[in-house]
Amino acid sequence: MPDEQKNCAECKRARAARWREDFPVRWDEDNYITRREMVKFMGLGSLLLAGANFVVAAIPHLQRAEHYPEQKLGPASLVPVSGSVLFNYPTPQDPCILVRNQAGEFVAYSQVCTHLSCAVIHSPKENALFCPCHNGYFTVEEGRPYAGPPTRPLPRIKLEQRGEYVYAVGVEV
Ligand code: FES
Repeated sequence: MPDEQKNCAECKRARAARWREDFPVRWDEDNYITRREMVKFMGLGSLLLAGANFVVAAIPHLQRAEHYPEQKLGPASLVPVSGSVLFNYPTPQDPCILVRNQAGEFVAYSQVCTHLSCAVIHSPKENALFCPCHNGYFTVEEGRPYAGPPTRPLPRIKLEQRGEYVYAVGVEV
């Protein structure tokens, strides 16, 4: 090796040595991760992910626990057997339908179809809630879809009857 280059190589080594003195970091040790550390990291990461999933899953339940207003819908005699009336609940922007089934009991649902949000109507002849947009059908008893494109049930409005009057008291999603 020529002297010039050798000198240059020695210079580099000397510079490197000085650099190591100024920053005494042992990279080989610094980058070394033990199996235990790796398992700890993976375990904590998994716990964090599980916790985040739990929080995301709990949010709808927490929202559901929100307080709904009580709303007097009117006297039971207002709706004949196999008849229905429309109302808004829990806000004036939420259309709902109250149906008196063939047994004389009251059930109520959101009127917003779970397919593409058209308004469902009561069809006494078919004893069903019918969506004219795409011929979707829901049962009156449970609001469950049984024909047409809807796959999710209608949100049910919780009712209470006190004396002659029917009240809306909550929403079951
Ligand atoms: S919007 Fe009701 S069936 Fe499509």
